[in-house]
Amino acid sequence: MAFICLDIRCLYIFLLCTAFGYTLPSNMEIKVNPPQDFEIVDPGYLGYLYLQWQPPLAMDNFKECTIEYELKYRNIDSESWKTIVTKNLHYKDGFDLNKGVEAKIHTLLSTHCTNGSEVQSSWSEATYWKPEQGSLETKIQDMDCVYYNWQYLLCSWKPGIDIRFDTNYNLFYWYEGLDNVLQCVDYIKENGKNIGCKFPNLESSDYKDFFICVNGSSESKPVRSNYFIFQLQNIVKPLPPDCLSLTVKNSSDINLKWSIPKGPIPSRCFIYEILFTEANNSWTTNTIENEVYITRMINESQEFCFSVRSKVNFYCSDDGIWSEWSDEQCWEGDGRKGTLMFFMIPFGLVSLFVLLLTCLLLHKQKALLKSVSYIIL
Ligand SMILES: *[C@@H]1O[C@H](CO)[C@@H](O)[C@H](O)[C@H]1NC(C)=O
Ligand SMILES: *[C@@H]1O[C@H](CO)[C@@H](O)[C@H](O)[C@H]1NC(C)=O
Ligand SMILES: *[C@@H]1O[C@H](CO)[C@@H](O)[C@H](O)[C@H]1NC(C)=O
Ligand SMILES: *[C@@H]1O[C@H](CO)[C@@H](O)[C@H](O)[C@H]1NC(C)=O
Ligand SMILES: *[C@@H]1O[C@H](CO)[C@@H](O)[C@H](O)[C@H]1NC(C)=O
Repeated sequence: MAFICLDIRCLYIFLLCTAFGYTLPSNMEIKVNPPQDFEIVDPGYLGYLYLQWQPPLAMDNFKECTIEYELKYRNIDSESWKTIVTKNLHYKDGFDLNKGVEAKIHTLLSTHCTNGSEVQSSWSEATYWKPEQGSLETKIQDMDCVYYNWQYLLCSWKPGIDIRFDTNYNLFYWYEGLDNVLQCVDYIKENGKNIGCKFPNLESSDYKDFFICVNGSSESKPVRSNYFIFQLQNIVKPLPPDCLSLTVKNSSDINLKWSIPKGPIPSRCFIYEILFTEANNSWTTNTIENEVYITRMINESQEFCFSVRSKVNFYCSDDGIWSEWSDEQCWEGDGRKGTLMFFMIPFGLVSLFVLLLTCLLLHKQKALLKSVSYIIL
């Protein structure tokens, strides 16, 4: 049977070859090699790695073909692979160097040179681990980085647990656009030890990976490095809104306004949360405008207060940190307005009298006594 099948296949190929003048072998025959020398290279940018490879061997049959590569990569333990299809011989991306990195690549032949069906090679694989030193407990803990008002980056941390007295930590950072890895120049210190860093002004650092490594040194015991990767626009904590104002249209319709926090954050990038308090109710609502009209819940002349906080919205970032709450602005209600007027009128009259008296003192010093007695009378 096998013999017959083979014969039929040969015949088929023969027919094809004669029909098409031997341009292409049949689909079954097309094979392509995987890329060569696939490797992961660490240029020392704290997590920005180069994935690079060479074209496959024996590509002479496919001179007319466009060769593409399908690259898949991830941090070991992460759930999904990132997939890239490229014609280039390299690819760069950011990785978490606390973990290993794994990647695989294969060659793809475009459909027009394989008569419609996709041909792909077997995979070439590569892995990378940053050499580690020191025990896990010597790493810094609770790293917290906040980009205040999209202007000032500040990171702070706690020392590792299992460390010697002479251990101190250093922070290094890099992002695309910097020639070299830089060290923090303005450390926050506690008992002579570095526990944080105030970064200088960072230029063109948004919307790209920002890499940080906090490593340590000690004479007696090696210290494990800790790596961080984030994007600055996602850790912005704006200033709270200010100049809150409240205009009561009638006793139930209220217009609330506040000013956009000052600084480099464009007004279109804000979302606000408003906290209302009325009697002993409170509720919140969100808006991207710096003004809202609301209708009161309670139809009574009671105190009504609000405060606002701000955050960078989803048009400008994937994440953000709420600002502090603004000062509270209140409307005292009609009742209070009445009592206020009750105090204001007599106070105004007294002030007027004192003003008059002063004028008289200044301009008519000689007639002082007369005038006073005249007024008193
Ligand atoms: C291409 O594929 C079609 C059907 O998919 C087939 O009929 C044809 O013979 C193939 N040609 C070659 C050159 O393989
Ligand atoms: C800490 O990391 C920086 C940047 O990678 C490196 O230059 C330095 O040698 C490291 N220090 C220690 C003590 O490992
Ligand atoms: C307040 O004014 C709006 C129109 O501006 C009106 O619809 C509403 O009924 C008024 N409420 C009261 C309590 O007068
Ligand atoms: C709060 O509301 C409850 C009922 O909803 C009321 O019994 C209580 O007196 C209120 N407290 C204040 C301080 O208004
Ligand atoms: C608010 O209360 C007053 C009297 O307490 C009443 O006359 C008026 O209709 C109420 N308005 C609404 C909108 O409930």
